[in-house]
Amino acid sequence: MDVLVIGTGGREHALVRALAHDSGVGTVYAAPGNPGMSASATLRDVDALDGSAVAALARELGVGLVVIGPEAPLVAGVGDSVRAAGIACFGPTAAAARLEGSKAFAKEVMAAAGVPTASSRVCETPDEVAAALDAFGPPYVVKDDGLAAGKGVVVTDDRQRAADHAEACDRVVVEEYLDGPEVSVFALCGWNESDGVTVYPLQPAQDFKRIHDGDQGPNTGGMGAYTPLGWAPDDLVDEVLHTVLRPTVDEMARRGTPFTGLLYAGLALTSRGVRVVEFNVRFGDPETQPLMALLDSPLLPLLLGAATGSLADIPPPAWKPGAAVTVVMASKGYPESSSRGDVITGVDGFDGRDGDVQVIHAGTAIEDGHLVTAGGRVLGVTAVGTDVSDARSKAYDGIARISFPGAQWRTDIAAGR
Ligand code: AMP
Ligand code: GLY
Repeated sequence: MDVLVIGTGGREHALVRALAHDSGVGTVYAAPGNPGMSASATLRDVDALDGSAVAALARELGVGLVVIGPEAPLVAGVGDSVRAAGIACFGPTAAAARLEGSKAFAKEVMAAAGVPTASSRVCETPDEVAAALDAFGPPYVVKDDGLAAGKGVVVTDDRQRAADHAEACDRVVVEEYLDGPEVSVFALCGWNESDGVTVYPLQPAQDFKRIHDGDQGPNTGGMGAYTPLGWAPDDLVDEVLHTVLRPTVDEMARRGTPFTGLLYAGLALTSRGVRVVEFNVRFGDPETQPLMALLDSPLLPLLLGAATGSLADIPPPAWKPGAAVTVVMASKGYPESSSRGDVITGVDGFDGRDGDVQVIHAGTAIEDGHLVTAGGRVLGVTAVGTDVSDARSKAYDGIARISFPGAQWRTDIAAGR
């Protein structure tokens, strides 16, 4: 079966690679794709937010499955357009994608399903915001209700900054601060009328969100990630399945908007137990990079099973032993801005050397025959090793071979694990 992957980032490059390694997959197409993906996929151009254009491309290519990577097309209903054209699509309906598209909606679903999360208030006026900030106290957490491409959340001790952020948004969720390490648990979700929902959690991963070492500086899309988490409780996945994932998908099904695709639970392991920080409705980036590097099951049957309601007939995902670590290289100015056109050297010769270090492209382009930066997060060096420290040292050896002007990366990804 041929597959079309929609998106341009590191997440989509990692998915394209995993699909290309699945012997059940014929041609992998990526649209719009990026230069790194062209090694394993045929690139096509498309406006990812235009449902009829994506459906028309899928029909023209004759693919059996469309995989939608980013949240914006999912929230915009691109998956619905693809399904309406009679083509299987991995990714939720627009109605189910509201779990990421509106933080207030996600809170409402969690409340109805009894899912543990930070207590919160939805605020629309400065007076409501002021009252909520005072009720919860510092550190203040203020979230734009809608999609904000990773820029919608401010966590600060500065009450004025919290109030200013709220003022800049129409509608915000103000909530209690959650302490404790953050963990990402992704789950493949399928649904059919007779069996209801099937949920297959993936191995937990951890993302490093702040730009600087020691979790300093502003939030980014994610500067690195690793899996598995040797320090996490053995029963973490079970607990998350029973207290978070299942209740949420059951509540969505009860509302007549079953969730299918990938449910991303962003969790804080607080002293009072597991709490949901956020839901996303797609694979996370960069966590998907180490996860795909360790996946020991063919990817197509899992994605197709989730898309077509037959996930329960597919064995749950299996994992290779060892660990995988991704270190992201970002461009000058990130995350406030990004730098385009800086020439990148040293990315060749990874694939095939020993196969355990890969360069995943995120914000790259070809200009005048050169590979150049074209975004904030430029690439991710992903390494597999016998354990986290082995994978980590291979990833940093890879980073040392690559350079471009203004490159920034964290030196403490997966350190001390
Ligand atoms: P979100 O987009 O909701 O994931 O928020 C982005 C980041 O802000 C999270 O990954 C956390 O690091 C931080 N954050 C969000 N909500 C909270 C909270 N209630 N307490 C502490 N940190 C938070
Ligand atoms: N790793 C964070 C995200 O994908 O939203």
